Amino acid sequence: MNIENMTTYDQSEQLARAEAGVEELFKSRKDRWYPVSHIASKAGWINDPNGLCYFQGRYHAYYQLNPFASVWGSCHWGHVSSKDLVTWRREPIAMAPSFEAERDGVFSGSAVISDDGKLVIYYTGHRWRNGINEGEGNLQEQCMAVSEDGVHFTKLGVVVPCPDDRILHFRDPKVWKQGGEWRMVFGVSTPEHRGEIWMYKSADMVNWEFDRPIYQHPDPDVFMLECPDMFPLDDKWVICYSAMGLSPKGFEARNHNNAGYVIGTWEPGGDFHQESEFHLWDDGHNYYAPQTFGCPDGRRLVFGWMSPFTQPIPMEDDGWCGQFTLPREVSLAGDHLRTQPIREFSRLDEDKREFGPIELAVNESRTLVTDSETADIEMEINLAGSQAERIGLELHRTGNGDHTLVCYDDQLERVVLDRHCNTYGDRGYRAAPLDKAHGSLKLRIIVDRGSIEVYVNDGLEVMSSYSFPADGPREIRLVAESGEGKAVIPSLSIAKLGTIWETPDR
Ligand code: FRU
Repeated sequence: MNIENMTTYDQSEQLARAEAGVEELFKSRKDRWYPVSHIASKAGWINDPNGLCYFQGRYHAYYQLNPFASVWGSCHWGHVSSKDLVTWRREPIAMAPSFEAERDGVFSGSAVISDDGKLVIYYTGHRWRNGINEGEGNLQEQCMAVSEDGVHFTKLGVVVPCPDDRILHFRDPKVWKQGGEWRMVFGVSTPEHRGEIWMYKSADMVNWEFDRPIYQHPDPDVFMLECPDMFPLDDKWVICYSAMGLSPKGFEARNHNNAGYVIGTWEPGGDFHQESEFHLWDDGHNYYAPQTFGCPDGRRLVFGWMSPFTQPIPMEDDGWCGQFTLPREVSLAGDHLRTQPIREFSRLDEDKREFGPIELAVNESRTLVTDSETADIEMEINLAGSQAERIGLELHRTGNGDHTLVCYDDQLERVVLDRHCNTYGDRGYRAAPLDKAHGSLKLRIIVDRGSIEVYVNDGLEVMSSYSFPADGPREIRLVAESGEGKAVIPSLSIAKLGTIWETPDR
């Protein structure tokens, strides 16, 4: 890597101010919904996972951070690291805005390791064109920063300037090495307002040359593809993105913006040939801007941001806002991706209890746990042998009747996550498809203080949603509702989850 003649930027003052901002917010942080087993900032707002990598014996996860408030703004890069993907350590804030091209934010990006062993970050420097807000669009450019230790970064400036004044979104570089060449993809809103992903290439990591638009979204209403990613899985290539402007269709794409993928083939120097339909990464209320990375042992892992797009967002009142999903392993399942919690995650299980086999009569309910803030639940439902119309669990159930229902719904033939009777937060339900022909349904449900993740049939479908319980003990209740008869549950286990933090915040 030749970095001679490049400008470097000192940001120590801005970083110190950002650390002080987080500490100030932390003083009044409330923990009723603050996660135990998911990554979140000590205080302040987080969004996208950034710069995921394995470097010098540790996994590094950076994230979009507003250190000054629990709403989006003033984008910095926060940082946590881990030896084993299970126990995490808070690291100093990695990047703060410190030169003109990133005046209004250090936006999302990715990390790679250079041939001479440095951690290199590509990210977007962001400015409002009118200096105040998005009224006249964004002026965005891809920038580069280098680190010897993964903790302290030297910024080298802009490496891919925006080529056209009419482009109002130009961001989120994802970089990888392919043969002897470096490849970069990022999201663009073209002058015609089409959502595209552009590919660049480089021999030296510093000088980048335009290759081609590698993907254009077929829907002319989709005007931007945020946080694109492109990675190989077996003999295929996956292109994923977070689409702005996609309309809801039936059960799909019901969130404000929606993250999904297509699978196909690609050779360097050629076009991407799409073979699969578009699929959502996750059918829940809150999932966006996922980023993948290759683990040294060959696994492809993905972290998503649980995006609180819809008001009310009650955690904003608690001095923090936003968390990641669990790290998930990605694998191919036909024309689909399967995503499951990484196997290491079970190490956080504590006090595991077996409840199955259980049969419930119609309209019967049974309290399994009287008070738990967290749970790792594994449950099998015998669909062929059950006649109840809805079978599942009321989670985060409090004395006032609030709860979130996760169940199999025989009318929809889907797995449903329903928040309709919660006092706090946005309500509504989401429903993930399943193949009923199997005759049985496997659910893994991860409950944290303010979130629920549902993995259907070993991760063939996933739903991630915030769920903010009311005051008091939090029950887990098994329910069977209506229909001609019983619910048959061959197995059911519930463990509590331990903390992911090496040193808990308090
Ligand atoms: C996605 C996103 C990215 C951008 C970042 C800014 O959530 O809008 O496109 O880089 O967040 O925080």
